[in-house]
Amino acid sequence: MSQIMRLDKYISSQRSDLSRSQVKELCKKGKVTVDGEIVKKSDAKLDADKAVVCVNGEAISYRRHIYIMLNKPQGVVCSTRDGLSPTVLSLIPPHLQRDGLFPAGRLDKDTEGFVLITDDGDFAHRILSPKNHIPKTYYVELEKPYDDSYGEKFENGITLRTGEQCMSAQFIPTDDKKKCYVVLHEGMFHQVKKMFEALSNKVVFLKRTRMGSLDLDENLALGECLELMHKEVCKIAPLFDDGF
Ligand code: URA
Repeated sequence: MSQIMRLDKYISSQRSDLSRSQVKELCKKGKVTVDGEIVKKSDAKLDADKAVVCVNGEAISYRRHIYIMLNKPQGVVCSTRDGLSPTVLSLIPPHLQRDGLFPAGRLDKDTEGFVLITDDGDFAHRILSPKNHIPKTYYVELEKPYDDSYGEKFENGITLRTGEQCMSAQFIPTDDKKKCYVVLHEGMFHQVKKMFEALSNKVVFLKRTRMGSLDLDENLALGECLELMHKEVCKIAPLFDDGF
């Protein structure tokens, strides 16, 4: 596949530290090469999927899309803009910043854990659509101990207090009767909290630990992110339009 674009757009889309006007200056100074040749015009066209572009002798590895795993702390909101609280986008370090980034799915302000941040709208849509059954795993701490009936109730599909019917979900107990894991295939608003409310219990701590079969990296501290590589993104869901 070929993707024809202007040199200045190509560079500034991959290097958020360089604006288009800075790229123009660098080109004029002969600091930019395409396939080994100095290119002085920043509006020159190239094939983004094939060209080898270097700035100051350093090659740019072009990625059409970017996929970032964030370990969201409490107090941060999953939106692109918020007047009051910090957003997940404010936690993305400058070298991973790009236009068009957004969180693919929302965690509540007081929920921690795995948030995928990307600029790939199609992929985000696929992993969020209940039709595609991409499982999301949550670690849950409860106010009161659960009992042996929870597993079957989750499997049969819990009816929320609002009357909404949840799809079948997995309840995974641990040795501690106030701690468990829940695997959902859909993402209704406050769903995990509402499911336990329907069983007259209360979630006191919630963390998303897995999307698809990709675990939140245990070495990632709260508030930290890492760029996912192709094979990791594919563990969440297959990549049809290869973003890499
Ligand atoms: N379910 C919830 O109740 N909250 C979240 O943040 C995610 C799932």
